[in-house]
Amino acid sequence: RTVYLNGEYLPEAEAKVSIFDRGFVMADGVYEVTSVLQGKLLDFPGHLKRLTRSLSELGMGNPLSDDEWLAIHRKLLELNDVRDGMIYLQVTRGNPGDRDFAFPPEGTPQTVVLFTQAKPGLADNPVAKTGMRVISVPDLRWARRDIKTVQLLYPSLAKMEAKKQGADDAWLVEDGFVTEGTSNNTYIVKDGKIITRDLSTDILHGITRGSLLRYAAEAQMQIEERPFTIEEAKQADEAFFTSASAFVLPVVEVDGAKVGTGTPGPVATRLRELYLEESL
Ligand code: PDD
Repeated sequence: RTVYLNGEYLPEAEAKVSIFDRGFVMADGVYEVTSVLQGKLLDFPGHLKRLTRSLSELGMGNPLSDDEWLAIHRKLLELNDVRDGMIYLQVTRGNPGDRDFAFPPEGTPQTVVLFTQAKPGLADNPVAKTGMRVISVPDLRWARRDIKTVQLLYPSLAKMEAKKQGADDAWLVEDGFVTEGTSNNTYIVKDGKIITRDLSTDILHGITRGSLLRYAAEAQMQIEERPFTIEEAKQADEAFFTSASAFVLPVVEVDGAKVGTGTPGPVATRLRELYLEESL
């Protein structure tokens, strides 16, 4: 695989980053994941906009212009012959040459890394027809989840706990309400209404969420943006989640209880189709 590192396209084995990089020792960096279907980047402007916002919330500038980001994405897809899959991008505060809590001096170059992951048949995920099983765990992440930082240890631990319990993913709960999934935004459907947590610093402002809610509103579907509980999810007609890498996937079980009929429901199924149609 050919990857991108600080202006160069390199074989992955030759792409090396310093052990002092702030991303490595401090998780001081942000990232984005963009899906590619039939060679097209999905929701790309939204991902770039959020990248700039995440960087700015951490006191960093955006090292590249939107045109430059697009050119790198296109080039990597071409070099790696990727039609379906994803592109990961990461920007860290760079290499100060030593470990220090204080930021490196002004002008220290940021570290920019991008790589592709080919996933042939990405849009035909069989889980869309069977659904996911989730467990709930306490949300023990830091309080600025609106910034897409590379500190993913807690979501990773939560995912492993889900697997240990024979489930597919975990929904994170704070003060009695679901915030989001380990790496996705969460929804329930009750009496035809789509319910999802409102935007704040408590959750990542999902790009897929934003697009999907727009398409759903255009299709005259009812939407309510408010927090919901695990008990409500268990009593709901349907549940589902969204992310750039999974699009829309139904959730059929929460903490061992079937949601609705225990099979993917019509609203989640329709929303998945709607998202794929509209964003392609
Ligand atoms: N995760 N919430 C969290 C905590 C996330 O990590 C993600 C994305 C989302 C969904 O956001 P979007 O629709 O913009 O992908 C919500 C990515 C896909 C990942 O870490 O792989």
